[in-house]
Amino acid sequence: MDINIPVNTSRKERMDKIFLIGFMGSGKTYWGERWASQSNLSFYDLDTLIEKNEGQSVMEIFEKKGEEHFRKKESAILRQFDNEDNYLIACGGGTPCFYDNMQWMNMEGITVYLKASPAEIMDRVLNEKTTRPLIKNLNRDELQLFIEQKLKEREPDYLQATLSLPVSGLTDHSIDLIIRTTRS
Ligand code: S3P
Repeated sequence: MDINIPVNTSRKERMDKIFLIGFMGSGKTYWGERWASQSNLSFYDLDTLIEKNEGQSVMEIFEKKGEEHFRKKESAILRQFDNEDNYLIACGGGTPCFYDNMQWMNMEGITVYLKASPAEIMDRVLNEKTTRPLIKNLNRDELQLFIEQKLKEREPDYLQATLSLPVSGLTDHSIDLIIRTTRS
């Protein structure tokens, strides 16, 4: 005799895995924290996880161990999420551009590109250069050029994201659209 065990289908299983990507200063951490707490997702900042793991700031890691070491750690720590769900991660600006991180994130969950123009980025990072090793020694003109060139170089990776959202239009409600995308 077959026994039919009723399956509870009333609740759609929640398995949100959201990766915020974008250039330095695009607001990944700011929006990530807000959106995650609103949506009961666990929030992680990838740079902070690397710093805890290494016991050093991003700046110190770059200075003492080099960028290659940082990129390896970044990629390894990202992959520790392969058995997790219901999280939102604010990635570093370079995360999608090294190894096959972007491909991995797109297979694992959804990626959201916070798209900022060079002028918007300039405005936001000008006073925060000291915590960012790639730009800390640049003067205003050099910074302008760096942002324009690096953004051009990185945008093909960023544009592989599931969703691209211009930073000028972001609100607390942007997370609703993002969550809808994760479930469609
Ligand atoms: C980097 C961005 C930084 C940090 C590191 C390298 C980059 O993160 O990961 O300084 O390559 O653009 P934020 O985008 O959070 O500043």
